[in-house]
Formats: sequence, structure tokens, C-alpha cells
Amino acid sequence: MCGIVGYIGQREAYNILIKGLKRLEYRGYDSAGIAMGGDNPRIYKCKGKVSDLEALVENLDFSGNIGIGHTRWATHGEPNDVNAHPHRSMNGHFIIIHNGIIENYTKLKSGLENKGYVFESQTDTEVLANLFEYFYIKEGSDPKKCVDAIRNALRIVEGAYGLLILCKDVPKQLIAAKKGSPIVVGIGDQEYFIASDASPIVEYTNSVIYLKDDDIAILSDSGLSLINLKNIPQTPNIHKLDLSLDQIEKNGFDHYMLKEIYEQPRSIRDTYRGRLNFESKFLRLGGLFNVFNDLVNADRIIIVACGTSWHAGLVGEYLFEEFTRIPTEVEYASEFRYRNPVIKKGDVVIAISQSGETADTLAAIQLAKRAGAIVLGICNVVGSSIPRETVAGVYTHAGPEIGVASTKAFTAQVTVLTMMAMAVGLANKNLTQKEFEDLVEELYLIPDKIEKILEKADYIKEIAEKVKDANNALYLGRGYLFPVALEGALKLKEISYIHAEGYPAAEMKHGPIALIDEKMPVVVLATKDPSYDKIVSNIQEVKARKGQIIAIVTEGDTVIRNLADFVIEVPACDFALSPLLTVIPLQLLSYYIAVMRGCNVDQPRNLAKSVTVE
Ligand code: AGP
Ligand code: GLU
Repeated sequence: MCGIVGYIGQREAYNILIKGLKRLEYRGYDSAGIAMGGDNPRIYKCKGKVSDLEALVENLDFSGNIGIGHTRWATHGEPNDVNAHPHRSMNGHFIIIHNGIIENYTKLKSGLENKGYVFESQTDTEVLANLFEYFYIKEGSDPKKCVDAIRNALRIVEGAYGLLILCKDVPKQLIAAKKGSPIVVGIGDQEYFIASDASPIVEYTNSVIYLKDDDIAILSDSGLSLINLKNIPQTPNIHKLDLSLDQIEKNGFDHYMLKEIYEQPRSIRDTYRGRLNFESKFLRLGGLFNVFNDLVNADRIIIVACGTSWHAGLVGEYLFEEFTRIPTEVEYASEFRYRNPVIKKGDVVIAISQSGETADTLAAIQLAKRAGAIVLGICNVVGSSIPRETVAGVYTHAGPEIGVASTKAFTAQVTVLTMMAMAVGLANKNLTQKEFEDLVEELYLIPDKIEKILEKADYIKEIAEKVKDANNALYLGRGYLFPVALEGALKLKEISYIHAEGYPAAEMKHGPIALIDEKMPVVVLATKDPSYDKIVSNIQEVKARKGQIIAIVTEGDTVIRNLADFVIEVPACDFALSPLLTVIPLQLLSYYIAVMRGCNVDQPRNLAKSVTVE
């Protein structure tokens, strides 16, 4: 999620806050705001960039030595002035900024509304501000109990937060609280710098504390104290920063793409957070509430997308047909929009797009709407064009994807498609309750399994070293792994400029096998699945022609180990979820090859992050 900054000390806070927000610009955002604390708390915020915020406050009084600032990456509520942070509680006791997603905000919000609270924004964040205030007033609005009110409120909050909190009645105090979203506290000489990462802090101090989950830091001119949600004092663990600013922005990774590959356990958890519940086997996609029956009763589902999103769409086609038995097809948006397709009123069209701005996908949406279809969106950018053009949808919560080569957006899209197909399949009884619950468990465990795969990065790097000079590559897969073969090939070609093709493995005999020789790396997705024996035969066909075989297999596979030149193991999982695991080694392989070839991994030649032209 996006960026927070805070300052408390002897200096003027405003410049430190604005500079800090600019340092966080790389994280991508849609609105910004700051609040000054002290005796006269003031908030200024707006949709747009930090420069728009600067223009807004240009001639205003922003003196003060306590303040907080926020750049928002919307998850709940359109990017606009009202939903921008900071948020003030209804009676003005608290001003807060927040990074993260509050899972139980709906329940908390209705509880507060029943107690007379009126909300201004659509955000989950404003619920926290009023919840703090509710607990504070309940305790008699005693400034000495301000921290207790916050702590007790946070104990009933579910989800992720990085919070900075100002309390009107304790003007010389700044509170930070953390669970799931990062907060770094920089320690200066009688001053503290707080931020989502160290990039806004490193120019002032290299002594930092990384708050742990459930930590609450109370900062004032008498120093810093640290407690947890149980009010148990915590010992601050002071680190010395030794990273450059550039490295800090990439969280220590050499490229955004690698950072985003490693973010996938978190981005998948964030995408199913508040929607999938492991204990109660509960799945609810709030964004589809008004159209769910239309989806369940659809005559046909048409998925439109481009590039990597199209590959996610192909996984979606297989998922919907298997789980719901509703005829489903994925279309290249650029073809769909021009070929005068048959679209009927009973059809549901699902547009998938990370950016929400892809011109061809937008045009396909317009065509489908004119034909009377119900059009839904799966998007990563709240308030972008595609969510505005579709009647409903589900946001991926992957956070800003900076690298041009899409990685965490792909797995987040597949996660959403899986949840949609599961929900519809259960509703139209093509999935039994047991099948559904098994899938809930399997999906819930995917992030942990991805973390295990990421531990194999060094071995994948060794493989990259062996094949980095190839001029061509072939990626083969069957069933759910065919879209992954396509995605792996796209990753390789778009960042390393090696020509690569993804193919259904069985199709090899119908032509591509002519290409295979000892110079051709062939990546085969060969996890234990219904067509395993067939893919083993395909591997033998490649081997017979001296192709270099890189096989992605299920942990413990002993057959393919004796056939392939390189074997990368992934944990076992339900075949329908295998794209989420098997794509990870392919992302890493393409990344390392591109780096070894000296390519510009984050901004490959000729490419743009969002193709807003035809
Ligand atoms: C994927 O790595 C590419 N950057 C590209 O294919 C991308 O997926 C495509 O342009 C679609 O973008 P969108 O998801 O933002 O619509
Ligand atoms: N969930 C909050 C919102 O949508 C915070 C988003 C963020 O982390 O920027 O406003």
C-alpha cells in the first residue's frame, strides 16, 4: 500500500513531511494529504500528486513541529478529496493516516453508525478514527487515557494497518501503531521521523526502529515509549541503516520487478484479506454483491484483456468452466473489439486489467455494454477508467506495480478469478461444499507455498546462468499450466529480448518440435496433474532431440528428475491453483536472465507500463 510520514521535534514539520512524501512517490498513489498537530490541528488533502497538495497549501499557515502526511493507494473508496487521508473523527478528537486494509471495517462501521457516528468518506480508515474516538469518549475523554483508547480499539480491529495518530487533547504527542503494514521510526536528537520505509528518514538519521506487529509507539518531547496491544512495554530494537536511498526505495532489492516478485505472498494475502476466511470457510466478494445472481445465471462468460492479464484470463476460462460449468472464453481485447463478436444479453463480460487504463480493453468494454452484456472488472488501481466503466467488479489489492513486467498483478488477478469461480461454482452447485472448503484451504495456503519457492532463487539463478545466451526458448504446459507457459514466455521475451514461445505441450508435435535442438532451452511445466504421464512423454520427445529441459515439478518428483537437465520443485497443490505456484520460478528465471544480459529490467525497451493507446 502507499506511504505515510510523520515528524515530531524542534524543526518545522511541513517541509520534512512534503519532502518525505516525495521520497515515497515511487510507490505510486492517487491522492495525498497532511495534517499539522499541536494546538491548532489542520488538515489539507486532495486527489492527485504531492505537487497538487503543495499548490493547495501554498499560501496557508502550515507552521508547527508535529505533523503527519499520507500518499494514498486507494483500496476502499474512490480516489477523491474526501477519501484522501488524513481522516478526522466525527467530534475532532483524532486525526489519522493509514496504510493497509481493515477487514472488519463494515461491521465496525455499522456498529458506530448505530451509536450515532456519521461518516464523510467511503474509506475503511475513517472507521478507525471514529472507533478511537468512541473508545476515548467512553473513557470520559481523559487525555491520560488517549493511548488506552487507541490500544483497546485496535484490539477489535482485524486486518492490516500502519497508522499515525494525532489526538487533539494531547497536542504534543504523535502515536504510531503497526500490524501488517510497515512503519519505521527514525531517531534523531530530540526528534523523531516516522515513515512507511526508510527513504524519507535516511537523510536525517541512520538510527531506526522497525515497529513489530501489535507495537504502539508513543512519541513526545519526553521521548519514545513502546508498548504492545496488551499494554506490555516493548524494548526498542535500534538498527543502523546502511542502504542507499535507491536501495531503500526498492526495499533492498536491485529492481522493482524483483521486489514485486517477492511481494507476492503479501499481495495474494491482501487480495483475499477480508474476502476469504480460513476458519469459517467463508468467501464473500463484496464488489459483486449486486451482480452475483447475474453471474451465477450467465449463459456465457467472456473475459477480455491484454498481455499478462489475458494470460490470467485464460486461467480464469479454465477455472470458470471447471468450477461452474458456465461456457467461458477469453478474448484478446484488441481482437474482440474489431471482429464483430456475438454478444448476447445473457452474457457476462469480465475485463481484467492491472492499470485499468488499457485502451483496447476499455474499447472492448464499450462494445460489450452496447451489446447489452453485464460488464465486470478486475483491476488493481481503484478509481481508474475500467472500474468506472464497469457495473461492478473486484479489486486486486496487489499495491502499486512499478516494474513494467507484470508479476504480482498476475497472481492477484488469478487469485480473484479463483475466488469468483469458487463462489459461483458453490452457488450453482457445481462445486460441493466439501470441494469448496478444500479449495478455500488450498488457496489460503498458497502464500506460504510461494515463500518456499522463493527460497530456491539462488538455484534458479544458476539455471539462468546456463541458458542466458540462448536465442530462442520454448515453454510447454497442459491444462491450467498452458496459460503459465504463455506467461513465462512473455516474461522472458519482454525483459531479456530472447524470442520465446508458449505452447500447449501436446501441440509440439504439430510443428514446434522442428525447432528443438541442443541450443533450445525448453521449459516444461510438469507438476503432478491429470496429464502428468502425457507431459512426461513430451519431455522424452524433447530429450530425444537434445533440447535443454528445465522442468517445473511437484516436490518429490523422481521420474522427471532423470529426464530433465534442470528441475525446479514447487509444493504440491490442487491443480486448479497450480498457476499461482508454477509462475513464480518462471518470473525469477526471466528476471535473472535479463539481469545477466544487462537489460533494463524495470523499463524494458519499447514497452510501457500501461498501454493507453491502440
Ligand atoms: C505484462 O508483463 C505486460 N506489461 C503487458 O502485457 C500488460 O500485461 C498488458 O499491457 C495489459 O496491461 P493491463 O493489465 O494494465 O491492462
Ligand atoms: N485502505 C485505506 C484506503 O483505501 C488505505 C489505503 C493505502 O494503504 O493507501 O484509504
